Amino acid sequence: MEHDPGGSIAMVGCLEDDVKVSLDEIAEPGTDARAVLEQLEPSRLPVHVAIIMDGNGRWATARNLPRVEGHRAGISAVRQTIETAARLGIDVVTLYAFSTENWKRPRHEVLTLMGLLKEYIKRELKTFLKHDLRFRPIGRIDLLDRSVRRELDRAVEATSSCRGSLIQIALNYSGRQELTDVMRSAAREAAAGTLRPDDLDEVWIEDHLTTRGQPDPDLLIRTSGEQRISNFLLWQLAYSEIYFSPVLWPDFDQEEFLKALLAFQCRERRFGGLPQSGSVFTPPKDEHGKT
Ligand code: FPP
Repeated sequence: MEHDPGGSIAMVGCLEDDVKVSLDEIAEPGTDARAVLEQLEPSRLPVHVAIIMDGNGRWATARNLPRVEGHRAGISAVRQTIETAARLGIDVVTLYAFSTENWKRPRHEVLTLMGLLKEYIKRELKTFLKHDLRFRPIGRIDLLDRSVRRELDRAVEATSSCRGSLIQIALNYSGRQELTDVMRSAAREAAAGTLRPDDLDEVWIEDHLTTRGQPDPDLLIRTSGEQRISNFLLWQLAYSEIYFSPVLWPDFDQEEFLKALLAFQCRERRFGGLPQSGSVFTPPKDEHGKT
């Protein structure tokens, strides 16, 4: 990593460009995590990292523990990932904590997950404030239990004026449901005469997603060796780099997260074009001037 002799890096995405975070504040000297950190190029970090935290159940089963113990152990990986991302100045981290399909799990597991989430938010609020992190849940939050909503609202309110990284937790989330909701809004506006078919474009759709105003994820990480998107951020992931880690989520520590960032920096992002293309065509437009 290019850093000054004093061992600090300019934070990326931070409000003040001259804020420096010491490498020692991110990873202890002499550790494997530090060795990976030192290979990172600070100016080429992803702005938005999305994560599918998978493998909690298998982690617990391998230790003859109930599945819920895997979720409990996964909280430490959540904490390490968020703190590292915040210190590196990554603008947005979106964690997939509970999908609409997860309701199909045994009642005890669902209730434990919701309980862990409440506990986590209560306990981590101080850390969010310390690191100036803004908290935001996405998904059908209105359908969650009142006690869960109360903790979520409290964290949103308490961190609303924070200006550091945005931490998004996807809860009762489904990418298809999100797109269906956008289509419904469009149909409603069209029926009311406030949306003409030609006004419905990518910008309109992005303005009606739960992630409106945010950049799309540059990097999607999925742990546990599974290689699927599982109904996560279907629109937003169109051009994300995907990193599949064989590591089960509870074992996904700071070093593993930094390794994912390093792998991202080795990718060449072309967005459908070619590297360093010179003269290019202007995309053809239809009779309404749309591409
Ligand atoms: C997938 O592993 C993981 C989940 C469905 C829940 C993730 C939740 C946590 C990490 C803890 C709470 C979250 C926060 C944000 C505090 P799995 O159960 O599908 O694992 P398996 O594929 O091995 O069965």
